[in-house]
Amino acid sequence: MPPTTAEGEFVDGRRIRVAQPLRFIMCRPDHFEVSYAINPWMDPGAPVDRRAAVRQWERLRDTYREYGHTVETVAGVAGLPDMVFAANAGICVGDKVMVARFTHPERQGETVAYANWFRAAGYRRIVQAAEENEGEGDFLIAGDIMLGGTGFRTSPASHQEVTRFFGLPVIPLELADPRFYHLDTALCVLDASTVAYYPPAFSTASTTLLHRLFPDAIIATDADAAAFGLNAVSDGRHVFLPAAARHLHAALRERGFHPVGIDLSELLKAGGSVKCCTLVRH
Ligand code: ARG
Repeated sequence: MPPTTAEGEFVDGRRIRVAQPLRFIMCRPDHFEVSYAINPWMDPGAPVDRRAAVRQWERLRDTYREYGHTVETVAGVAGLPDMVFAANAGICVGDKVMVARFTHPERQGETVAYANWFRAAGYRRIVQAAEENEGEGDFLIAGDIMLGGTGFRTSPASHQEVTRFFGLPVIPLELADPRFYHLDTALCVLDASTVAYYPPAFSTASTTLLHRLFPDAIIATDADAAAFGLNAVSDGRHVFLPAAARHLHAALRERGFHPVGIDLSELLKAGGSVKCCTLVRH
């Protein structure tokens, strides 16, 4: 038996990380394209290879399954090219779902398709957000609290709405760099009390707050953030993240996590990567 401390089990001074099987909702990019620009990564003039996008996405789905996770899929809809970014569809906790209210008209049509899916999946308590709310793109659960992004998409008022509906406190975090317009592009929850984040993506006040809340967080470099390295999914042991975020892979390994590199370069042309493609059923 490895020695145990109050903070968990360690072998050779390294924390033993335990994977939790997770349930994900994903949407194959059958209708993916970059036909409008609603974030600085999107250039409608640049070529996009949809077949490559589908191959990369299938690889992510298959990798999740290989690691023991469950993936359910929602059918994409023609004319809704960003539907592949399922994280934005809403927030699912227990038997409750809050369906997103998208900021941009280009994405608002996704709501109906996702709401229908949630209904068919048997969720009994489904509400549509009254306030602007881009789902798990801006709301991340860390233990008993939620971290709520704001500044570009999700409104501060939605934080209160989410607290009322789910009964979880939301800690507001203000995003300040347009390249990192959703919280899940700037911060990743690795387990109930461990996060990785990129301080320059946040306002000064929010950076101070993050430092107080998570003094031993992994700090991402400029290159990690630019490679969308924080747009990652963790099962508590394995962290699925863009392969290009080299420093972050090493930092995760250092802390006893097992990084699993994923290439979603085609989807990055729309400003999304691993986490954006993954809605977690908490
Ligand atoms: N093109 C999409 C948008 O701008 C990308 C969404 C990325 N999703 C995310 N969870 N960060 O809305």
